[in-house]
Amino acid sequence: MNRRTRTPDAPASPAVRRRAVLAGGVALALAFGGVLYASADEAAAPAVPFTTEQVEAGQAAYQQHCAACHGAEMEGMAHFPQLAGPTFQDRWSDDALGDLYVYTRDQMPLGQGGSLPTETYAEITVAMLAANDLAPGETAFDPEDEDQLALPLGPAFGAEE
Ligand code: HEC
Repeated sequence: MNRRTRTPDAPASPAVRRRAVLAGGVALALAFGGVLYASADEAAAPAVPFTTEQVEAGQAAYQQHCAACHGAEMEGMAHFPQLAGPTFQDRWSDDALGDLYVYTRDQMPLGQGGSLPTETYAEITVAMLAANDLAPGETAFDPEDEDQLALPLGPAFGAEE
């Protein structure tokens, strides 16, 4: 019988523990490198198109038709949901641009869905996106363009999946 098998392992020497910590650090650095690489890939996904002009028009229309309930900064209040911020992004990150546009057009202002011109709904929709840190570009949002309507919002908001 070998008594040494019953001897409890000696605690790792400080040098061994340091090496373990170092190895962990390297693994972490590699993992973070992977995350950075993945988000660089996501940035290459097609951006949601809209222009600064659309955002400006949309913000003006928003103040007139929506801010009374959703707040001047789209921050939401009491029973009126936030339209800018993490709750909104979570809520819409599994949806496409067209889902947000159609919902807004058909349901808002509350009880008066469809009461505004189509162009105004398009502008207000992208004003919400701009308030969620999406950047305007050269191409306008065209709510008749099926390819644009199919664009997923999750990657645009920087969601994981
Ligand atoms: C009279 C108050 C009122 C006005 C005005 C109003 N809303 Fe709303 N809005 C609501 C309420 C209440 C909800 C939640 C409805 C629900 O959950 O069924 C909502 C929900 C929403 C949502 C979905 C939010 C989410 O994440 O679930 C969007 C987008 C939205 N409104 C946009 C607008 C826009 C754009 C306007 C102006 C054109 C507008 N609303 C005007 C009351 C209002």
